[in-house]
Amino acid sequence: MDLFVINGGKKLSGETTISGSKNAALPVLFATLLTKERCEIKNVPELRDVQSTYELLNYLGKNCFYGYGTFVTGEHSALNPVAPYELVRKMRASILAAGPLTARFGHARFSLPGGCTIGVRPIDIHLDGFRQLGIEISHEKGDVVMTARKLHPAHIKLRFPSVGATENLMMTASLIEGETILENCAREPEIEDIAAVLVRMGASVEGAGTSIIRICGATELKGFTHTVMPDRIETGTFILLCAAAGGKIKLSGADPRPLSALIRAVRKAGVKVYCGRDSITVDAEVSRPKPVNIVTKPHPGFPTDLQAPWMAFMSQCAGECEVHEKIFENRFMHVPELMRMEANITVSDRKAIIHGVPGLVGAPVMASDLRAGAALVVAAAAARGTSVIRRIYHIDRGYEKLEMKLRDLGVDVRRRKDDGTVK
Ligand code: EPZ
Repeated sequence: MDLFVINGGKKLSGETTISGSKNAALPVLFATLLTKERCEIKNVPELRDVQSTYELLNYLGKNCFYGYGTFVTGEHSALNPVAPYELVRKMRASILAAGPLTARFGHARFSLPGGCTIGVRPIDIHLDGFRQLGIEISHEKGDVVMTARKLHPAHIKLRFPSVGATENLMMTASLIEGETILENCAREPEIEDIAAVLVRMGASVEGAGTSIIRICGATELKGFTHTVMPDRIETGTFILLCAAAGGKIKLSGADPRPLSALIRAVRKAGVKVYCGRDSITVDAEVSRPKPVNIVTKPHPGFPTDLQAPWMAFMSQCAGECEVHEKIFENRFMHVPELMRMEANITVSDRKAIIHGVPGLVGAPVMASDLRAGAALVVAAAAARGTSVIRRIYHIDRGYEKLEMKLRDLGVDVRRRKDDGTVK
């Protein structure tokens, strides 16, 4: 296992380029299951989750090539629509294979994805929608078995705007003739990315990015070429990195439009953010930020995936502020680690109160999940002294070439093997 050693407390400067979005790329990779034709996806980040998807798609029978940011799929023989536990457990997004496989082959069997540190993460909204499209669902030995005798379009109202359920149902409905209406859908920008792909494949999709999406499916879908959108969460993490450590940085290939809630909050805290068409410049004084309260919400609200890095930034605020986590029930695992770095935070249920401290201090800490790990990187870059961040395999799931990009921005970071010695 690797770890990061970060010598913090230095002002940032420089420029780096934003990668393709993990959370947009994954559903597009699973959409390739809807067709036997060749699909080519560009700007795919080199990440562990993409590697896990590659392994799962290959296991299912797709012929995949993945390298240099491009992912190509095709088929030489019939697929086997069974996704085993060993592959599904590596990544919750594997559930996105279920809809496309059942829509195409009439049946699928996949291992139930487990919970994870940020919450239980049930899949009832996916399954409820599938049932309404004519899919029968049963459970056998920890697997979900899906059978569709006759798929039909439906008017489905999601009980919560789940990102994954919206994507899964959009993909499934794209292979069902007639109009399916999804109500109370997720409005995240990644939904628009997958909608563009489904349209290229031959489905009609209207309303992506709003809470009502109408899909008219086709009996067969075509191959496609697609370029994945920039990663808004990676962009937001770098904005918060500079906001916390101070200095001036430029993020090229970044799209500021899906980040308006974050940019508003960061500006309110006193940091200057300049938005170009495809770049963002952050200019942060070293003085302490003003306290700003946030509540995480579905898009266009403040993204839950930036809540942990936001807390790393706010931990040095001049006063007190609140953070409400409304999406996941257990997404404050970074708090004890930030407190090792001398942050002062109290948590009660889904609310945290940050009592700002004049500065963070480097310490040995541990990443518990992807974004909690990102928060520790932000905190370590801002802190005086050396921090050692362990279990960075979580961070490698979602940040491409992170230490290279951090160095572009002036962070003193090294990746080391964790040989168990105390550093
Ligand atoms: C996506 O997860 C992202 N993952 C997550 O990013 C992100 O945090 C999340 O959306 C919210 O924005 C990918 O896109 C691969 P949800 P997803 O279904 O689709 C509950 C990261 O760090 N729910 O919108 O799984 C669920 O438990 C990851 O990159 C149900 O109750 O999220 C949660 O509380 C982490 N039943 C809430 O809804 C369901 O059937 C939102 O989940 C589905 C979800």
